[in-house]
Amino acid sequence: MTKTQSSGWGSRVGLVLAMAGNAVGLGNFLRFPAQAIENGGGAFIIPYLVCFLLMGIPLLFVEWSMGRFGGRYGQHSTPFIFDAMGKAPYWKYFGVFGIFTNIAVAAFYCYLESWALSWSYYSVAGTFTGMSQTEVQSFFVNYIELGTSHPVIFWIICLFLNTWILSRGLSGGVEKVAKIGMPLLILFGIVLAITGISLQASPGGAINDGIVGLNYLWSPDFSSIWSFKVWVAAAGQIFFTLSLGMGSIHCYASYLKSKEDIALNAMSAGWMNEFVEVVLGSAIIIPISVGYLGIEGVTNFVSEQGGLGLGFMVLPNLFSDWGTFGIFAGVMWFGLLFFAGITSSLAMGTPVMGFLEDNFKIKQSTGAWIFGGIILLLGIPCVLSQDAFNEYDYWAGTIALVIFAMVEIVLFAWVFGMDKGWKEINTGADIKVPGIFRFIIKYVSPIFLIVVFVGAIPSILENATKATSVYGWTARFLLVGLFVLVAILVYIAKKRQGSNPYPESND
Ligand code: TRP
Repeated sequence: MTKTQSSGWGSRVGLVLAMAGNAVGLGNFLRFPAQAIENGGGAFIIPYLVCFLLMGIPLLFVEWSMGRFGGRYGQHSTPFIFDAMGKAPYWKYFGVFGIFTNIAVAAFYCYLESWALSWSYYSVAGTFTGMSQTEVQSFFVNYIELGTSHPVIFWIICLFLNTWILSRGLSGGVEKVAKIGMPLLILFGIVLAITGISLQASPGGAINDGIVGLNYLWSPDFSSIWSFKVWVAAAGQIFFTLSLGMGSIHCYASYLKSKEDIALNAMSAGWMNEFVEVVLGSAIIIPISVGYLGIEGVTNFVSEQGGLGLGFMVLPNLFSDWGTFGIFAGVMWFGLLFFAGITSSLAMGTPVMGFLEDNFKIKQSTGAWIFGGIILLLGIPCVLSQDAFNEYDYWAGTIALVIFAMVEIVLFAWVFGMDKGWKEINTGADIKVPGIFRFIIKYVSPIFLIVVFVGAIPSILENATKATSVYGWTARFLLVGLFVLVAILVYIAKKRQGSNPYPESND
């Protein structure tokens, strides 16, 4: 007997757009170009694509099917999805990551997202018109150093919007935003990409054609292919961009009906993300900034300021050279970033709401406000200091993803078992999943993940003991506290469950 679904998706298009919206985020437009530049342009692309095929696609199948499986037993968050799949009592505590990561990432992500909102506003208001590069730069620095009240105001607006949309539920809130936001984002992205690629050098204007930047990114360079660091960066980007290893895909998929397709849906959303990342993500910021600053100028800038710097400090200045079209370009660019951001941060709220509803009978709308409140509290250190921001990003946005993914794939392929797992993936499938993925999921992806994790241990230890400011330490304590708190809730929830919560699930 299976429990009935309390809420769910309105339509298949809505589901795929919401899932694509979950994946398509600031990562696609800011993090990807920066990673590519920092790791040698063309040299990055090969490891990136290999990671997509050997880790990204398999994990998409795994996470979607774990999610739908959990939904069948009325579970929408990973602690109890894991619990339903593995018999041992400890699995659910690994599942804690799938709530922890979403909260911790949302805490810094919503703040970034609010920059996209304020920069959209500044673009409309013409704030950057006539500013020089250094002026835009100091404007930005003044902003993040809280020289004005705007960062706080826009952050609160942004949190409020997220919470309000979440409180309206999946089909009434999240799905509607995805249906409006995603098409607009793709439209803006295509217009800006065409602008970027067709940029031409001219006296007093760009020093390079836009194509120069694209060539830099797309000329394969095999020299750094043996560098472990490049592989780790590529793997990290694949995780971050596809929203893998964090529990948000599981949650969205858990609201599917038990025989609904996952194979084709997973591929549609996953490939849509790759289109946005690889095509649009490389055709805007890189050609435009290389056009004006040259390759060396851009690489230097990125190594000093990171990818965010290019997006928020360089582009507004370049756009302001373009006259009226520049205003549109600014609105499109920051509007696109905002839509990309919000459809992702919404996905971070749903596992928390699902967890509270399934286990503590807390209504989704109430759960949304609880989530909003936690993000507000945890976000404060990030607003106050870059150090806190970096700690959240590193521990929750990078390391936790790899640990979680490593555990889930072992659980799926080796504990739940590949026979049942493969059947799950193929149940209701609208495409034929190539048989090779059975082998990849069982052997290749787990080994790959373990190697990446073990290889990263030295730098993890180094980071764990690295000195940081009082904000950095606050962030570390908050992260540990958050994890422990969620684990305690999981413990309590388990105690409250009946003796056989998942009939026929793991026999
Ligand atoms: N995939 C998103 C991006 O590319 C980021 C994202 C969505 C995410 N959900 C997440 C990151 C949960 C960490 C945790 O920007």
